[in-house]
Amino acid sequence: MVALLPALGLLGGALQVGPVHLGADPVRTLIHECGIWTLRLLWLTLLITPLRELTGLNDLLRLRRMLGLFAFFYALLHMAAWVWLDQGLDGAVIVSEVIKRPYLALGMTAVLLMVPLAVTSTNAMMRRLRKRWLVLHRLIYVIALLGIWHFWWQVKKDIREPLVYALLLALLLGYRLVKAAAIRRAKARSALATARGKTAAPAP
Ligand code: HEM
Repeated sequence: MVALLPALGLLGGALQVGPVHLGADPVRTLIHECGIWTLRLLWLTLLITPLRELTGLNDLLRLRRMLGLFAFFYALLHMAAWVWLDQGLDGAVIVSEVIKRPYLALGMTAVLLMVPLAVTSTNAMMRRLRKRWLVLHRLIYVIALLGIWHFWWQVKKDIREPLVYALLLALLLGYRLVKAAAIRRAKARSALATARGKTAAPAP
């Protein structure tokens, strides 16, 4: 629920009530804030697994779905702010902008990929899809990479902010790569031990 506060603040700012002011260019501010919150919530979603494994707090898993859905919500707001408030829902202009600025196509792809994840985020879908659910939800890595690429590409000069997000993503993905390599090594060791055991076993 805390994740709703930025959206409520921005809504207050748009309606000119409350402490948030959207500044001289309110549409830009809305696009900016919703884009940044999409990234923050995506990164937090990706933080849950390492945090759970390092602390043993399994309850954190329940938070992961909520964070992922909020990331999707902010991505939709971010896209709607651009499509509606910035481009006035003009289909032809939107298509020509997307063709002219490839970072928009990257963002759109990321949002489209979030749809199947949101739709299959329920416990029932998890049970129904079983192993396929895990494979499907690996799309979150592609979405995160597209998200940071989209952010990086539209930055004009100062790359400090996207750089921080890119480094954080490198840590989150690096953790998984190191873990996967350790699991592969352990499996190879145990396969070798089994094979050695078999050859060393006395003939019946
Ligand atoms: C997961 C999907 C997405 C993520 C994580 C994301 C994230 C971001 C971030 C962090 C920014 C930088 C905000 C700033 O500093 O001003 C941004 C800018 C922007 N994004 Fe996205 N975005 C996504 C999808 C989209 C989509 C689908 C569209 C529209 C088709 C879009 C349109 C824009 C625009 C127009 C800007 C501002 C560019 C400018 O100020 O020149 N984004 N996005």
